[in-house]
Amino acid sequence: RRVPAVVNEPIRSHAPGTPERASLKQRLASMAGEHVDIPVIVNGKEYRTGDTAPVVMPHDHAHVLGTWHKATPELVQEAIAATAAARDEWSRWAWEDRAAVFLRAAELLSTTWRDTLNAATMLGQSKTAFQSEIDAACELIDFFRFNCAYVEDLYGEQPLSEKGVWNQTDYRPLEGFVYAVSPFNFTAIGGNLSGAPALVGNTVIWKPAQTAMLSGYYVMKLLEAAGLPPGVINFVPGDPVPISDALLSHADLGGVHFTGSTTVFNSMWKTIGSRMGAYRSYPRIVGETGGKDFIMAHASADVDALAVAIVRGAFEYQGQKCSACSRVYIPQSLWAGVRDRMVAMMADIGMGDVRDFRNFMGAVIDEKSFTKIGGYLDEARATGTIISGGTASKDVGYFVAPTLVQVEDPGARLLCEEIFGPFVTAYVYPDDQYVETMKVVDRTSPYALTGAIFADDRHAVRLAHTHLRNAAGNFYINDKCTGAVVGQQPFGGARGSGTNDKAGSKLNLLRWVSARSIKETF
Ligand code: ALA
Repeated sequence: RRVPAVVNEPIRSHAPGTPERASLKQRLASMAGEHVDIPVIVNGKEYRTGDTAPVVMPHDHAHVLGTWHKATPELVQEAIAATAAARDEWSRWAWEDRAAVFLRAAELLSTTWRDTLNAATMLGQSKTAFQSEIDAACELIDFFRFNCAYVEDLYGEQPLSEKGVWNQTDYRPLEGFVYAVSPFNFTAIGGNLSGAPALVGNTVIWKPAQTAMLSGYYVMKLLEAAGLPPGVINFVPGDPVPISDALLSHADLGGVHFTGSTTVFNSMWKTIGSRMGAYRSYPRIVGETGGKDFIMAHASADVDALAVAIVRGAFEYQGQKCSACSRVYIPQSLWAGVRDRMVAMMADIGMGDVRDFRNFMGAVIDEKSFTKIGGYLDEARATGTIISGGTASKDVGYFVAPTLVQVEDPGARLLCEEIFGPFVTAYVYPDDQYVETMKVVDRTSPYALTGAIFADDRHAVRLAHTHLRNAAGNFYINDKCTGAVVGQQPFGGARGSGTNDKAGSKLNLLRWVSARSIKETF
């Protein structure tokens, strides 16, 4: 390999008394006192349109951190023009030069930019220091570095040539812009959705989530600081519907790189389908969407490890990871032990302002989310037994207590629908119904993102490989179902969870190239 050796970025603990903790605290304090005026960035120029919305802290929604400006229809058209103008030059850069931009961004983020990205993610998205560190710092650094290594491998894959002939593969970028649509829940995802296509020579229009504007803006500024040329990635915040309408109806749409809800992805796909024939090429459509992720236990499981995995998988980042554990299937013989351990751990969970580093949970992202989760709390009161939690308050921030509910019906809505909050539903099954219950796990939800089996018995693990093979794109044995690491567990799911073009892997980068086979006869 010619790119520098790639290893996963070490996680900073921010432990009490460490200089890294002091420095992050200082950045949190300064950022909370700033008022950031977030522009639209097209072709390297900043536009403040005056059509604005506030950036608020989910855990203290009276606190305004800044303002973001919405792109006008004219700016959206300018962004399309900017991608067209930048494409030729950028796609002709030696790949090493393009990679250098992302490697430098990784280096900056690993050092001088780290506190800024962590503070923006903590304040704007209500992540704890640890949850932010594994996302906005480590995962994003890993995406940038690993993608460079994968690109080198990809470009190195060349066909055989017989004597007198030279065959080559030219990995061209797509002929058109890539529309990147990122979610609020991972800062790293925005950087990867826009960065991965750009790394292989595409130009991008990036629409960040309205509820993650602060961190999105700083990711964009980081890439600029690393030397990303104007027009390669255009940062276009705004109302999703008119922006998507304009971009998805354009003949130059080369692809969509999406992470968000299944409903929105389906509607984008339908829009593209209804306009086929109007595009220069078949757009590449790549999406990671919803999940209803499970942890299932066999009677041979280690109960202590199981209870910890459920609590961490379900409640870290308030259950707002697409990978979050939201349904568990426990054999009758283990249930009392698992339940009691969970209840004890949940009683100890600190929830509040993420600037207090003792808190394990912050707030959910916004009022819409708070209200949606509240609807499922009502459903739990009507159809299940709330074992712990079940309360919520939006007086100061959008706080939902970690909640454990038990239901008797394996087809209950709470076991099928994505809730996206700190809410886990348990179904207790007779020990001798292990295989039958796996079949239920496999068919009760339309999703197939992450899942885990806890078992000490090797035969039980084998059975899980058979019966749960299609139930999760990321499958864990004796571990929680969250926290995939770039380069180690490429991430993505199938069925209603997306196109499974594993983020941060060669499989993903392949979607952003259009290969040209060349044969020269001597
Ligand atoms: N990649 C994230 C995780 O695995 C969503 O938790």
